[in-house]
Amino acid sequence: MKGLIFSHLLTFVEKEYDKETQQKMLENAGRLSADGTYAEGESYPYEEIFQLAGNLSTITNVSMAKTFEHFGEYLFIQLARAFSQFFSPDETLFGFLQKLEDHIHIEVRKKYPDANLPGFEFEPIDENNLKMIYKSERAMSDFGIGMIKGAAIWFNRKVFVGKKDISKDLDGTRVELHVRLLW
Ligand code: HEM
Repeated sequence: MKGLIFSHLLTFVEKEYDKETQQKMLENAGRLSADGTYAEGESYPYEEIFQLAGNLSTITNVSMAKTFEHFGEYLFIQLARAFSQFFSPDETLFGFLQKLEDHIHIEVRKKYPDANLPGFEFEPIDENNLKMIYKSERAMSDFGIGMIKGAAIWFNRKVFVGKKDISKDLDGTRVELHVRLLW
């Protein structure tokens, strides 16, 4: 996983909680590959994001799922600001989500050829409902839900996201996300 994501996690914890929580989260992780300073374009084992988010969840008493979701929501806004050229003004939330694979994540791959990105399948239901199938061996769908909620904020909408693990071993590697527009 790219250092960019780790450094955003550290900033997120400092902003949402405080420096002390950030420090504790790092200390409890023991030896990290980067000793707590991550270079944007470098890759680090993705398990470390689970370790850090797990520590944060223990320290704050917020579930791991909610911790990932909360971070994903925050991260989307940061990435959207940093990569504003990927957004066009006349786009809708559902239009944007459905272009995720063919557009945004392809651009991400151009910038970071070794990026580990999830796959998505889309099943539009009607104008207020979109089904997205998340596929990734990293099993980070809660983070994806946060990104979807961040995107909704970006487009001035509010969504409810239902989640159902449809992977064979119920290990979160294939998850159905039902995105419902509330307004
Ligand atoms: C609602 C929109 C989005 C969703 C649902 C989404 C979902 C995800 C998920 C779940 C991951 C974790 C990896 C995995 O599960 O295998 C990921 C990684 C990533 N995404 Fe997206 N994403 C979205 C939008 C964006 C945007 C707008 C950008 C940047 C412009 C972006 C850049 C990245 C990057 C840099 C990574 C990390 C790749 C790595 O570290 O190897 N994503 N995305």
